[in-house]
Amino acid sequence: MNQTAAAQAKQFGYNNDYVGFAEIEPGRGMLCVNHEYTNEEVMFPGLGRQDNQDFAGMTKDLVDIEMAAHGGSVFEIVKGDNGKWSVNRNNPANRRITADTPMTFDGPAAGHPRLRTNADPNGMTILGTINNCAGGMTPWGTYLMAEENFHGYFWTDALDGDGNPDLSAQAEAAQMKRYGVPGRWYAWGKYYDRFNIDKEPNEPNRFGYIVEVDPMNPNATPIKHTALGRFRHEGVETTIASDGRLVIYSGDDNRFDYQYKWVSADPVTEENSYFGSPLLSEGTLYVARFNEDGTVDWLPLVHGEGPLTAENGFESQADIAIDTRLAADALGATPMDRPEDAQPGPNGTAYMMLTNNSRRKADQVDAANPRPESNFGHIIEIREDGENHSATKGTWSIVVLCGDPAIEEVGAMWNPKTSENGWFGSPDNCAFDNEGRLWISTDQGGGWGRTGKSDGLYALETEGDLRGHSKLFFRCPVGGELCGPYFADDSRTLFLAVQHPGTDGTKDFKGFERNSTFEDPATRWPDFDPAMPPRPSVVVVTKADGGVIAV
Ligand code: FEO
Ligand code: CA
Ligand code: CA
Ligand code: CA
Repeated sequence: MNQTAAAQAKQFGYNNDYVGFAEIEPGRGMLCVNHEYTNEEVMFPGLGRQDNQDFAGMTKDLVDIEMAAHGGSVFEIVKGDNGKWSVNRNNPANRRITADTPMTFDGPAAGHPRLRTNADPNGMTILGTINNCAGGMTPWGTYLMAEENFHGYFWTDALDGDGNPDLSAQAEAAQMKRYGVPGRWYAWGKYYDRFNIDKEPNEPNRFGYIVEVDPMNPNATPIKHTALGRFRHEGVETTIASDGRLVIYSGDDNRFDYQYKWVSADPVTEENSYFGSPLLSEGTLYVARFNEDGTVDWLPLVHGEGPLTAENGFESQADIAIDTRLAADALGATPMDRPEDAQPGPNGTAYMMLTNNSRRKADQVDAANPRPESNFGHIIEIREDGENHSATKGTWSIVVLCGDPAIEEVGAMWNPKTSENGWFGSPDNCAFDNEGRLWISTDQGGGWGRTGKSDGLYALETEGDLRGHSKLFFRCPVGGELCGPYFADDSRTLFLAVQHPGTDGTKDFKGFERNSTFEDPATRWPDFDPAMPPRPSVVVVTKADGGVIAV
């Protein structure tokens, strides 16, 4: 009720998505949590949703609180003798990353004229990170935050007759359109010129990257690694290939966008395993083409190769780093059903969560995206050639087609042993446990009524006779999506993040059937206190006997 930006900047932020853990010693480490976005209608009294009221109620003070509630949190947690985890508020390394935290760039676009603004004539210093969705941890224990829907934070006052952004005065109109800039989802640009493209047209070129944070050193300036490309990055999960190189899978979560993979130039060694390592700036970014014959080609996004030349608008590797989507278009990558998290697995495998795509028409289906108007999504397994994650070719197959297997029109495919409670829709975040079992959390958004199940966490078998067999493990409150998951402590601890409880699709919640507000939310999870709104929160799961989970 009395929130301020200064207070918020020292508190846990809003809408927790990715959860990672940097262990210091057994039973102690730094929890790393992304704060993807804010829901003004349940954060602030008396507002309701502002995006359909032209943000009339959004004062500068409220915008400042929103900016301080974005970004990430890094803080020490400790496992007590009773097996329960608690926050150590006294570790001086505890920190908040917000939309105002100074950061730097590396890689091909660092310092490029297209990254320069009035506030930053060198194109090397940027304030903040936004819409940090899924993420990852590097093999050396740093925290990677993926910037997803950055376009939504940009504003313009130039609108056409239909109220849509008029980009005719913008020098970079073509790429802005391809990226959906400006989305006008927030009022930030009303108060801050850097979020208004009429005043700072290059500022959107400074978001949409992978940000590296050193969780052990609160004074280390976070780095935006431009070599990994600019798009609506979902996850950024790392692995070390059998040839020793660092490999990162990252999806571009948009209907008809692509799956990417980064391969470092050099193998991972003790010498190059540090915050700001060249393993995240020297290497090759690839985009996937899923062929009808079950093979996948990883197409290199390298300046001078194929169509990626000056004649086609790519003057240098910097242009490819900034206009990654345009470069991937030129290469003929396969447009997917919204690539969410992708998780490298054992033996050169990787698993891609394709969450849904209501806009794919019947004449647009292909082998890798086989259902039109897919409301439920699917999961693709990639097997890289030679069981080597850095390979430029591999094979792919569909593990499950999501949705209710009892409804023929849905066209779902599960292992027949999957129970009524085991199937799900709209896979989003995922992780492996120590047993090599894939865990998937769902985000159905406002469409959860289509399954009649609120979002949850499922364990999916990927090998042998039980391939495609899914079991429900945890369900989150109505209107929320489930994030994390992250196994730590030798699979004895599972971190889950319940994001935006009580907000999405609450008109479909029987007995409530209206939009949530601060005063009148669909749930007051987790406090269940009439004086408290619902609050995004991290949940820790441990076994009663302290043992390994789900064995
Ligand atoms: Fe923020 Fe793609 O989910
Ligand atoms: Ca996501
Ligand atoms: Ca993950
Ligand atoms: Ca999501």
